[in-house]
Amino acid sequence: MPAKRSAAPSLFHSDLDFGKKTKRTEAPTALYATPLPASRTGALYSAFSYPTKISPESIAVFVASHTQPGDTILDCFGGSGTTGLAALLAAKPTAKMKELATKLQVPVKWGPRKAVIYELSVLGSFVATTMCSPPSSSEFLKAAEKLISACEKKLPLLYAAIDDEGKEGWIRHAIWSDVLACPDCRGETTFWDAAVTLAPAAIAQNFKCPACGYVVSMDEIERVFETFQDPLTGRIAERKKRVLKRIYGESQGRKWSRPATAEDEVILRQASETPIPACVPIAEIPWGDLYRSGYHKGITHLHHFYTARNLLAMATIWESRSAILITTAGRMFTSPA
Ligand SMILES: C[S@@+](CC[C@H](N)C(=O)[O-])C[C@H]1O[C@@H](n2cnc3c(N)ncnc32)[C@H](O)[C@@H]1O
Ligand SMILES: [Zn+2]
Repeated sequence: MPAKRSAAPSLFHSDLDFGKKTKRTEAPTALYATPLPASRTGALYSAFSYPTKISPESIAVFVASHTQPGDTILDCFGGSGTTGLAALLAAKPTAKMKELATKLQVPVKWGPRKAVIYELSVLGSFVATTMCSPPSSSEFLKAAEKLISACEKKLPLLYAAIDDEGKEGWIRHAIWSDVLACPDCRGETTFWDAAVTLAPAAIAQNFKCPACGYVVSMDEIERVFETFQDPLTGRIAERKKRVLKRIYGESQGRKWSRPATAEDEVILRQASETPIPACVPIAEIPWGDLYRSGYHKGITHLHHFYTARNLLAMATIWESRSAILITTAGRMFTSPA
């Protein structure tokens, strides 16, 4: 069930047999009475990012109760392919899916369905195709490990971080915070310092200026912008001023977190001073109606979505590929030779 990418997708597909009459399955009301549990975890959910993804296991219960085995399901707005995964899962229901159907007393018929999926975006189509027709997991793991170790050799310290006990570790993820201007004294602080507490974890509704004590609703606070020389376009550009605030890392199998330090800043500076690999495109974003001034101000090119470190990492991964793996759907994965 490959995801088809087409600017003007045809609603008619050779896999669809509109002449064939299948018995209409009655909508089970129990399915719609309460929201289904959609856990945001699990191998399928966690395998990729997509803004609108949903739990395929839950959708599979809808599929298995609204259609018959052998039916074809059409999804013209397929996103990351949840419908395709659900059609596959209907043939191999998990224990949780079976439990859910029994609990709701939903008349399911487990068994294989076909799915035809259209999706406009390159990312959605790629994810959907890959998830529905994955490569061999052992081949993929081998290729991924080779690729990661090739990149680590090129940039061994890119994600290095000293842990909260002084031992060497690496960054799992980091929190950056927008810089805000106090409307009263014009002093600068960060969103993190003005509104976030960790114990208990909370984000305040109001901004309280650490310098002058002025209190105002968070919605009314101005973000600070800064100018910089864009190393790719060569132009002076504007971007939201942001500060690295917290590091979440791992060392010797132990996960930890701590405030960002001057040493973390040094690695960031080194990353931003490293020449950007030639494979990074200078691609202007045709925002059109999608432009939102509060969010997108200063983001004129694709590379503005990345921090210097992440751009360097992605470009290095891209440049390090040289061999290919072909999936069952004929799509290519890249790996180093
Ligand atoms: C709400 S999302 C669907 C999410 C999906 N259930 C998933 O598994 O990720 C809607 C999708 O429709 C796509 N889309 C919007 N207009 C389209 C069009 N004319 N043809 C095909 N896809 C379109 C968007 O790119 C988006 O991924
Ligand atoms: Zn102030």
